[in-house]
This record gives sequence, structure tokens and C-alpha cells, in this order.
Amino acid sequence: MATNGERDPLLGPPGEPNLARDTNLGEHAAKRAAQRRADIIRAVVHGILTVAFVAALLSGLFLWDKIGSYAGALPKDPAKAAQRLLESAPVIDGHIDLPELARTVYANNITAFDLNTPTLGHVDIPRLKKGQVGGFFWSVYTACPAHAGLDDGEDFLNATWRVRDTLEQIDVSKLLINRYPETFELVTTSDQAKSAIASGKIASFIGVEGAHQLGNSLAVLRQYHELGVRYVTLTHMCNNAFADSGGYLQPIPTKWGGLSPLGYKLIEEMNRLGVIVDLSHTSDDTARQALKHTKAPVIWSHSSARAVHNIARNVPDDILERVGTTDGKVDAVIMVNFAPQFVADEGKANVQAVANHIDHIANITGRAHVGLGSDYDGIDSTPEGLEDVSKYPALVAEMYKRGWDRFELAGLSGRNLLRILAGVERVASDLQAHGVPPALDIYDKRTDLPRPEL
Ligand SMILES: *[C@@H]1O[C@H](CO)[C@@H](O)[C@H](O)[C@H]1NC(C)=O
Ligand SMILES: *[C@@H]1O[C@H](CO)[C@@H](O)[C@H](O)[C@H]1NC(C)=O
Ligand SMILES: *[C@@H]1O[C@H](CO)[C@@H](O)[C@H](O)[C@H]1NC(C)=O
Ligand SMILES: [Zn+2]
Repeated sequence: MATNGERDPLLGPPGEPNLARDTNLGEHAAKRAAQRRADIIRAVVHGILTVAFVAALLSGLFLWDKIGSYAGALPKDPAKAAQRLLESAPVIDGHIDLPELARTVYANNITAFDLNTPTLGHVDIPRLKKGQVGGFFWSVYTACPAHAGLDDGEDFLNATWRVRDTLEQIDVSKLLINRYPETFELVTTSDQAKSAIASGKIASFIGVEGAHQLGNSLAVLRQYHELGVRYVTLTHMCNNAFADSGGYLQPIPTKWGGLSPLGYKLIEEMNRLGVIVDLSHTSDDTARQALKHTKAPVIWSHSSARAVHNIARNVPDDILERVGTTDGKVDAVIMVNFAPQFVADEGKANVQAVANHIDHIANITGRAHVGLGSDYDGIDSTPEGLEDVSKYPALVAEMYKRGWDRFELAGLSGRNLLRILAGVERVASDLQAHGVPPALDIYDKRTDLPRPEL
């Protein structure tokens, strides 16, 4: 207690009359007394509020700590860490061939099978959920002529039904997406994908697996874009009017030495529209030229590393070295393919072998440029431990064991791909804002349209 004229701070500033000694009981004193009481009440209320504030702060810190550990440090156990990570950053696979299964097994009769029950392939809804899948590109694929027992001729001119067949595959994808609205949501932008995932849906993109599906026509590309297509692979396993293919295990003879003149126009039009240039399946020269020409980021939707397993279909180091965000490089994501014959020698494809591809690519490009492009339902066998879409967490756990942090893992599982798509969207809106017109070029081998004298 105060003893020398100091006052308890709660009782007012020094120099004020002391109520206890004040003998002046006039109006002034009464007023003072009332003010004191108000001061005391204010002080008490202030004290209570302070205590409440400190309590809230402490419990807030406690909660923050819990939230912090939820979003931050992952559990030590790799399986638990992968599960935790994928809860907030689920898998977005660059290439799944479910529509091909629908076509080749069921003639696209979507009532002949049910994605809620085990399918003949690698993909169904229970396994997608178990695998913590938040999105994928539905590959709308129709075979190269040679693989369909056809011959387009050396100028790719013979009439085929590939545009029809591609439309059928877009259609069956949408029918399936609409049949399970609780599970799938058709998306065409990175923001739509994020909100679909946030609402617990599987963000469903559409990608065309080969420019042989374009009917030699940029107008067809524009209409695919209208229908929601967001990547076109420049080739499948055949050369086409736009570009050379990389073949399969071995390279195939080239026609253009990379991109054709129309292939350059195709890339420009894809950049303008906001369709991702996909370099899987292309020849090395096609990939190099496309990297030089594109204004937008690119992907390899389902390709692994040639230095780890030496086959034509994988990406060589000198091309990986052109991927990045520093000067002269192109932002890209290489989405690793699980096909055993792309991953390792016969009988040796497993989780570790796929992880080696991821690590090798990341060692050259940086970890922000790797993703997952399993090729499920498009491959006839699978690595041990990655048998179907329920198994992605095993691969994420393996990368965690190898020291990848939560941001790198989230990039690998899907965010790197969304970054690329957002970049492609930005370039497209820039080009459109600058008034870049649609490409009206016609394939010069066509004879069915009037052509100005060249
Ligand atoms: C589609 O498959 C269902 C179930 O097998 C069958 O009942 C139906 O007739 C098929 N529809 C067509 C048009 O073939
Ligand atoms: C194209 O179609 C014609 C007529 O059906 C056929 O004779 C030819 O073998 C096909 N391929 C080429 C190379 O023109
Ligand atoms: C990647 O680099 C790390 C660190 O330098 C190394 O330990 C690892 O073996 C490399 N992995 C591959 C697959 O090249
Ligand atoms: Zn493919």
C-alpha cells in the first residue's frame, strides 16, 4: 500500500484530494467521489478485459501451434506424412486413360460399368479416394493410323474418323464426370481446379493425346479448346502434320526434323488460346524447337528420365537442362510416367525406381519442375507398389524419406502443374489483350480448299 502520499494507481493521479481525509463534503467532493467510483469500475473492467485478453492470446497461441503443426512439420512416419500432406495438397495426375478403357472395353456405354465398383483397369472412385487424388487430366486418345491398321499417306491426308473419335472421347469423359457429380467436376482453369478441390471434388481436366487428332486443322484445335481441352500433346507415337514423334522404346524416322511450319503455328495458337503444349511423345528436336518457340510454360504430361532408363520415350538431360525459371529457360513440369518399360529393366520397376526418375529430373531442373503422370489405364502393367490410383501415397512417402519437404512434395503432387497452367492462362490473356489474331494458316498439302497463289 502507498504510505507517503503516493496513491494506489487505481485511486487516481497524485495531487488529487484524498477522499478519506477530505473534510469538504460539498458538491466538489461528491463529484470527485462519483468520478472515483467510475474510475474504479473502469479500472476493474479494464483488469477483467486484460485478463481475458491474455487468456485469449494464450489459447490463440496454443491453437496457432496446433494449426502450425498441421500445416507445417509433417509426422516422422513417412506413410502418415504422405497422408497428411495429400490432405491439403492432393494428387493431380497429368495423364489418365480412363476414357480409353471406356471406349475399348465398353464402346463408351457408360451404363455398362460403374466407377463405384472395381473396374478392369487401374481407376475407380474408391481407389481414387484411397489414393488421395484431387484431380487429373482425362486423356482423350485415339490411335495413330498405323496402330489402328490404317495408312494416312506420307502427307497425313487420308480422311479418317479421328476427329469424330476424339469428340466421342471428350463426350464420354463428360458423361462420366456428370454421372458422378459428387466426385468429379469438369474444370478448365487453375482457379476452378483449386475450388473443386477445396469442395472435395476431383478436378477433371481434358487433354488430347496427339496432334494427329486435329485433322491437320488449327480450327479443330480452337473448337477442342471451346469444348474444354486444356492440353494437346504435339504427337503420339507417329509423326503428324505438325511435328515429329519420338517413337516408343526406339526413335522412329523423322519427317520434319522437329516441328513442321504448321507446327510452329500450332504452338502460337495454343499459346494464344491457353492450351498447354505437352511435349510427351515428341522427338527430341520437336521438344527443343517447341521450348524455343513457346511463349508459355509447357509440360510433359507423362514422361520419365532417359538418363535413368534409356529409352526414346523418356526425356534426355540436355532437354531437362532447358527447364527452369532463370534466363533462357522455360518453366515446365515433367510429370513422371509409371509404365514399367519406361521406368526400369524388366522386373525392376517399383516405387524406388519411379522415385529415382523424380530425383534425377529434380536434380537437373529443381524440385519445382516435377509432377506425376502415371498413365494409369493406358499401361498394361504397373510397377510393384504402384499398382493403381490408390498407391500414390507410397510414392509421396518415398520422396519424404528422401528429404523432400512439404512444399516440394505439394509441388510434386499437383501444385507445380497448377502453376504451369496459371502461367499458360496469363500468357493467353496477355496475347489476347495485345490483339494477337487467331492463326488462319491452312496445312499446305490440303487440296480441298481454294489457295491463294504462293
Ligand atoms: C449399355 O449397357 C447396358 C448394361 O450392360 C445395356 O443394358 C444397354 O443395353 C447398353 N446400351 C446400349 C445402347 O448398348
Ligand atoms: C489412302 O486411301 C487410299 C484410298 O482408300 C488408299 O488406297 C491408300 O492406300 C491410303 N493411303 C495412302 C498412302 O494414300
Ligand atoms: C540427386 O542428387 C542427390 C544429392 O546430390 C543425390 O544424393 C542423388 O543420388 C541424386 N539422385 C539422382 C537420382 O540422380
Ligand atoms: Zn501416352
